[in-house]
Amino acid sequence: MKRVVTKKLAPGMVLANDVHTYDSNIKLLDKGTILEEKDIARLAFYSILDVLVEDDPVETEALTSLENSELSYSERLKQSESFKEFKADFEQCVNGFQNSIRDIIDNNDTYKMEEVMAPIYKLLGKGHTASSIFDMLHNLRDYDDATYTHSINVALIANILAQWLKWDESEIEIATQAGLFHDIGKIMIPNEIITKPDKLTSHEYDIVQTHPQRGYEVIRNLSISAHVKNATLMHHERCDGTGYPLHIKAPQIDKFAKLIAIADVYDAMTSARYYRGPLCPFIAISMFEDEGFQRYDPEMILAFLSNIVDTYLLNRVRLNTGEVGEIVFINRNKFSKPTIKIGEDYVDLSKCPNVYIAEII
Ligand SMILES: [Fe+2]
Ligand SMILES: [Fe+2]
Repeated sequence: MKRVVTKKLAPGMVLANDVHTYDSNIKLLDKGTILEEKDIARLAFYSILDVLVEDDPVETEALTSLENSELSYSERLKQSESFKEFKADFEQCVNGFQNSIRDIIDNNDTYKMEEVMAPIYKLLGKGHTASSIFDMLHNLRDYDDATYTHSINVALIANILAQWLKWDESEIEIATQAGLFHDIGKIMIPNEIITKPDKLTSHEYDIVQTHPQRGYEVIRNLSISAHVKNATLMHHERCDGTGYPLHIKAPQIDKFAKLIAIADVYDAMTSARYYRGPLCPFIAISMFEDEGFQRYDPEMILAFLSNIVDTYLLNRVRLNTGEVGEIVFINRNKFSKPTIKIGEDYVDLSKCPNVYIAEII
């Protein structure tokens, strides 16, 4: 019997123990299972770092999946049942949210907040860990990038960040709602401007910048938490006063708006945009490190970056030099520059100014 990290598992290996999720008692696989690609993807999906396997794999089974074992982690994840299920739930969530928003904008009183929020909680449930949700979101990137999709992403990220900050249940719920509603004002901005592939003119940019107030106007009379309304109005404000529309500073900004600001910018950076592809999360992290501590709430940004980076421990990455390795040690002073194991060598990226993680593979 030996312990093997999930990323090194191959079809045909035989589990020596039952495997359960870390955070709940769901049994994922039984002792004696002869692993197939879909089982390995399932273990990765549930963030199982390693498992015990028997010394001798079943060779005949292994050969049938030789081609599959060359798939990247992302490709394997996308083929997994869990991912397909998450994607279907996500699409359902987008449709439901679109209908609710239409009701709200039309001043139709029939919507119920619990019904608007239920699909989001469905996505967060089912034993998903924070890291598996980030994995899903990063791999849904080629699906769509409309305002609705972004709003659901921000709701999920805000929920996870509020948990990392150990906020209480009711605050986590408000944070999730705030994420969902923060960009509701964008629905009123002409689509040609929102989806314009070229640089916006200054006039168009002025129009985009009206979305926090427009959104606030839409929801100001709803019977929802004032924090949700403030987050809609203030999510583009920055702690150093460089944001908009009110140009207020840290003490005046609602704490839920500060939380949404981080979730919003992270999602915007790691999503495909009409004018560029998605950025690697580590590039987003380094951008936060360069300018984040003045512009965002220091406690929130620290919790966010340290937890995000932790979800990538043991992931395989490609550096800008083309080398491939595994993240083995997180550098607490420079989250974007962990130590990478390449072959038998350990490379501390914080000591290599021109080397960075270009892709998670
Ligand atoms: Fe916004
Ligand atoms: Fe946004």
